[in-house]
Amino acid sequence: MPGPKFERNEEAVKSLINALNDDLAREYQAIIAYTVYSNVLKGAQWMQIAAELKGHAAQELQHALIIADQIDYLGGMPTATPREVRLSEKPEDMIRFDLDNETETIRQYRERVQQAESLGHYALAEQLRRIITQEQEHQHDLATALGIDVPKVISMGA
Ligand SMILES: [Fe+2]
Ligand SMILES: [Fe+2]
Repeated sequence: MPGPKFERNEEAVKSLINALNDDLAREYQAIIAYTVYSNVLKGAQWMQIAAELKGHAAQELQHALIIADQIDYLGGMPTATPREVRLSEKPEDMIRFDLDNETETIRQYRERVQQAESLGHYALAEQLRRIITQEQEHQHDLATALGIDVPKVISMGA
């Protein structure tokens, strides 16, 4: 007979699956945004970042595949719906949308690492840490293109 502890664990796994599906929707959003933005950024000033965005798109697809696998492994159903992608005529706006999304993504994945570890899913936590490292590189590329400092994810520290 499953006891109260088992049920609490079940609830925690369910909320981890739900949160990972939000992450997956965010990864789909990133794939779409980077694919579109890399093609609409015109002009010599944006050539380098446009090329970098194509690289980001490929990495976001790898992240999506990893997260979908992990959702399946935990007994969930991977979502098929991306978060909405915002469009703008202005290159600075598009890069800013990406930067804000990356900052939020890093914040979310840091929470996910803690959730995974509290449930004893150390392999998942390790995968998430590797993804965070790449998201930080994306964040850095975007901030550099805008000529600004990398936004802080938490108020004190990085
Ligand atoms: Fe990603
Ligand atoms: Fe990213």
